[in-house]
Amino acid sequence: MTRPSFKFGRQLCALIAVGVLLSLGMPAQAELLPTPADLQARMPVKPQEFTVIEPHLSFKGEPPVRRLYRGYSADQVLGLLLGPDWRKRSQQELEFRALDGYVSRIPVERFARYKASLVFALADASQSFTVDNKGQNEKNVPLGPYYLVWDNIGAPELLAEGASYWPYQITQITLRQADSAALLPASLGEGAAQRWGEHAQLAQKYCLSCHQINGFGGDKMPLNLAVRAKLLDDRSWHVWLLTPQAFKPGTSMPPLPEALPHAEREAIAAKLHAYLKALPVLP
Ligand code: HEC
Repeated sequence: MTRPSFKFGRQLCALIAVGVLLSLGMPAQAELLPTPADLQARMPVKPQEFTVIEPHLSFKGEPPVRRLYRGYSADQVLGLLLGPDWRKRSQQELEFRALDGYVSRIPVERFARYKASLVFALADASQSFTVDNKGQNEKNVPLGPYYLVWDNIGAPELLAEGASYWPYQITQITLRQADSAALLPASLGEGAAQRWGEHAQLAQKYCLSCHQINGFGGDKMPLNLAVRAKLLDDRSWHVWLLTPQAFKPGTSMPPLPEALPHAEREAIAAKLHAYLKALPVLP
């Protein structure tokens, strides 16, 4: 997939933001991020350094790789951009849009549980702000303008999730109502939220940053999972989600996080398949 130029990406983001605001008709608050230089001029404090275990570079059975980044606590930046009350909207989510079409939607409530930082450089300024993304078979991927990292040292539950909530190339942040209409449509039947709520959350967390469900999700590889899931048998589905490299060597589709216990990865794959097969395909 070609990467849009920086300028084009921004215009696209602005258009998408307006589109989202118009189409939902609900109060969503979208903010294009200032450049790191502009942000530093606006922030009341100096950038800090944050050490994390870099999930794109750390693998099961190998010593974890630490990295030192420079940036701000996400709290401070979000407070500046969205106003001091953003944290109180616990029913909402923050949507991070990236230059390459990746979209990460993260429950606001998660920012109260764990410490996140929005970084724009490595602490050692002589090193380039890039990462090898082995899960996606990509090398020297630019992380800028912004990368969301989590304080995962001493937090095994975060380490187990791998890079699931670590969007990079972030250009825009939107505070919005969690959108259940696309993921839990009325046509799923009565009690859908109870029956399939957890499944929809899993899809959101692990798949919809790149893929879509009935038009909702990311643009990195915008295939409709509600269609595709019905075409794959259980075995192919599991192989594809757990070991996509076995299915298609060199693919840029990442496996479900390998640091999760095997049984849990199997269970997530099975839940996703059941849910996506049940989900009606909407026009
Ligand atoms: C980082 C982006 C990304 C994420 C996250 C992601 N995928 Fe993919 N996926 C891709 C790409 C890219 C392809 C195309 C791969 C190729 O053809 O090499 C793909 C292809 C697929 C396919 C098509 C396989 C076929 O029939 O050819 C399915 C099914 C799929 N993904 C399901 C999922 C599911 C389910 C999840 C969540 C558990 C997920 N993907 C998460 C990027 C992603």
